[in-house]
Amino acid sequence: MLLLRRCSGLTPFGPLTPLRPRAAVAAEWRTLRLLSGGSNSEDQRWRNAGYSLSWRRALAGLLAGTGAVMAYGLNRHKADAASVAVTPQNSQLRVFSQEEVTKHRTLQDGVWVTFNGSVYDITEFVAMHPGGDKILLAAGGALEPFWALYAVHNQDHVLEILSEYKVGELRAEDRKKQQSATSSDPYSADPERHPALRVNSLKPFNAEPPTEILSDSYVTPSAIFFKRNHLPVPKVDPASYELQVDGLPGGGLKLSLEDLKSRFPKHTVTATLQCAGNRRSEMNAVKQVKGLNWGIAAISNGVWAGARLRDVLLAAGYGPHTAQWARHVQFEGLDKDVTGTTYGASIPVNKAMSEEGDVLLAYEMNGEPLPADHGFPLRVVVPGTVGARNVKWLSKITVSAEESDSHWQQNDYKGFSPTTDWDTVDFKSAPAIQELPVQSAITVPAPGASVLRGDQEVTVKGYAWSGGGRQVVRVDVSLDGGKTWQVARLKSGDSGETPKPSPPPGRAWAWKLWELTLPLPPDTRQLEIVCKAVDDSYNMQPDTVAPIWNLRGVLSNAWHRVKVTIRDAE
Ligand code: MTE
Repeated sequence: MLLLRRCSGLTPFGPLTPLRPRAAVAAEWRTLRLLSGGSNSEDQRWRNAGYSLSWRRALAGLLAGTGAVMAYGLNRHKADAASVAVTPQNSQLRVFSQEEVTKHRTLQDGVWVTFNGSVYDITEFVAMHPGGDKILLAAGGALEPFWALYAVHNQDHVLEILSEYKVGELRAEDRKKQQSATSSDPYSADPERHPALRVNSLKPFNAEPPTEILSDSYVTPSAIFFKRNHLPVPKVDPASYELQVDGLPGGGLKLSLEDLKSRFPKHTVTATLQCAGNRRSEMNAVKQVKGLNWGIAAISNGVWAGARLRDVLLAAGYGPHTAQWARHVQFEGLDKDVTGTTYGASIPVNKAMSEEGDVLLAYEMNGEPLPADHGFPLRVVVPGTVGARNVKWLSKITVSAEESDSHWQQNDYKGFSPTTDWDTVDFKSAPAIQELPVQSAITVPAPGASVLRGDQEVTVKGYAWSGGGRQVVRVDVSLDGGKTWQVARLKSGDSGETPKPSPPPGRAWAWKLWELTLPLPPDTRQLEIVCKAVDDSYNMQPDTVAPIWNLRGVLSNAWHRVKVTIRDAE
């Protein structure tokens, strides 16, 4: 069967490109995928897709036996991207009705989409899409709602890639209908954010506190607490809000916010949340990974209050019989993508039901109602467990024999060997991350900072934390890249505050801030400050990133290193 490069058989080169069997095209694309460098950050993967197209053009030129074609393909990438996407490249482009476009929704029938009034046949691009086959969700319709949701697409080079696939224009009346349907921005209801946050992505909103103030307060103020959203923040009316509890004998339970506050004892837990991708930028420095380029501050410490999950499940009918088959507790959020798919995750039932697990259905953060970005009106807080399982805007809890089938439980937030790449990865082969490994990082001084020789000493500050309730018992600090070490002073509260009593064994949910002042070594101008933490199971951090590198850049917990210069004068 022949694969038509364009529905009309015409290409941006004109009719020069020969029609080739699907297998040959697929082989070429596989080669180009390899040439394009494999896995990467979302943005980088899009750039790679662009480079692949340049290569493809070059290859097409060679196949067509004309240098002119090759030059055209390469030069086209220099064109003004904004105009490229909307400028017809071929006077013979046809006008299609929406009905015709809608017929092309599969690889067999061809995958067509519309954008800004133009029609694109992206069948060939599906295999190259950095976001995988999610692109098929847009098949037969407009790209705008998806690009509004996944704003990484709103870049010139993505438009440029798209322009390669243009086959025609959308009929004027269909375009008008589309415009009225797609004009709303799904992120328009997102809350205001503090300008101090370091933004990693605006839509969805992902940001971390400025590193230099992260260790200034034991409890991170909500406004600068790191924020990790996969989707738009849902607007929830607390008066009509209902939590559904399913999977238990007796047909389930529905609870209003008021029920949660009045029917169950209020429990308060100080717990650190850390994103699996914290410190991903250090993995990126070794070899590029796919994901947001988090620094060292995708971690924060909060005081959470609410009903215990255990109490709610018992009230919903959890009993000895349930314990025989139940293995997981699944959570669903109210935040949805354009297909209506909600965020979801699950935790082992033992953690949920343990009296010492301290899992909360939290309606308060730092003494106030949960802020919109942190899950208003209700989120689950699973102390000691990776951020991804702490589902916000909680709508449904299901006790089950199975894990959540959510994308974020099954196909993300898992660790792999450094040798695993995007062509070989099998997400089913690895367990979902739950408890996180021991972690520490230096917040002060900042990388590249300088200290005055005349000060004679340097103060180093940072945070340390371990998952699963394991308490950090020691932080070692080195000024010479790890040759010699000193032990830092651990703090369990803000300075000036009476030190908090040690938490019961296995329930150390909150981080420890630490500090150490050391004399400046006399005979060097460069310090390589390093920190490493030890938890009460004597787990320690690995010394370098390369052996723990993984394609998603999760679980990045190597010794943290900061280079600082010693200056002689102001
Ligand atoms: N819950 C919902 N409903 N939607 C989300 O996008 N993100 C998860 C988790 N819970 C997420 C969610 C991830 S990956 C993390 S790290 C934490 O929320 C971040 O919580 P925070 O934004 O309150 O810091």
